[in-house]
Amino acid sequence: MTPPLDDLREDIDAHLGSLLGGVPGGELVDAMAYALLGGGKRLRPLLCIATCLDVGGKASSALAPACAVEMMHCYSLIHDDLPCMDDDDERRGRPSLHRAFDEATAVLAGDALQSLAFETLAASETLDATTRLAMLRELADASGARGMVGGQMLDIRSPVSNSKSRAELQVLQAKKTGALFRCALRLGLLSTGHERGLLDRFATHLGLAFQMADDLRDRFGTRENLGKSPGSDAKSRKLTWPGLLGEAAALKALEEERRACMEALEQLDFEAALLTGLTGIALGTDGLGEQC
Ligand code: IPE
Ligand code: IPE
Ligand code: MG
Ligand code: MG
Ligand code: MG
Repeated sequence: MTPPLDDLREDIDAHLGSLLGGVPGGELVDAMAYALLGGGKRLRPLLCIATCLDVGGKASSALAPACAVEMMHCYSLIHDDLPCMDDDDERRGRPSLHRAFDEATAVLAGDALQSLAFETLAASETLDATTRLAMLRELADASGARGMVGGQMLDIRSPVSNSKSRAELQVLQAKKTGALFRCALRLGLLSTGHERGLLDRFATHLGLAFQMADDLRDRFGTRENLGKSPGSDAKSRKLTWPGLLGEAAALKALEEERRACMEALEQLDFEAALLTGLTGIALGTDGLGEQC
């Protein structure tokens, strides 16, 4: 029987805690714990494990890669909030890391979480050496200049040359957000020996839809449902979907991408029950209120 999502989330939290427990204590680890263990929807690790389960694997084979992706994600959020990036004072309903500690500690905690993500994969005893190597490569690709960091670079430059096209915004967001989602799915497939690109079409739509919803929530959401003040993108004059298309057209585009996600899942030759449920949660209308 497939465990419910809440149980999987508890397993992820417990495993993240034990992985961090292996790092010698002190202020740096306190800051890493603040970011890693302080809430969050855990969508990426859940997607990784859901993929593994949906294709017939065991959750235990995907737990380490799932946690590695979440570490990478949490590091990206720490740096994303820094004054030199989005300059956001809150995250997940609490002061952002550089507010709770200080800027230098936030930079270092992010750096250390990134290293711990690679170490987690490299040291995972549930995976053979060839699989670990393939996963390390996927994670490096998704998180570095070709992926998340490359996308963040495009994102910080987006306000100065605002006349971007839809295609350019898609590339930016596919890198900054889509790459880690794709990586989570690919690691889930690799943990069972499946072909890593099997879910790539779904991944493309999911990454895009997720960031569309995130952009819209930054306009329409409240402090309660976002866990931080809305309006960050407008403050930094970021290029976003509602900014590029207008609010009504951006909501329509989100609906189209949501449908494309579900269609991509329906066309698979296995029943992607957990992935379908998670997609509904990831692209839910919470934070979009009456707009939907
Ligand atoms: C926020 O991601 C950052 C984006 C890529 C938009 P999530 O909304 O998944 O953040 P947490 O992990 O639940 O806090
Ligand atoms: C964040 O995008 C993407 C990464 C952290 C790589 P956003 O800047 O839109 O995320 P939020 O809105 O701060 O969560
Ligand atoms: Mg940002
Ligand atoms: Mg941000
Ligand atoms: Mg955002």
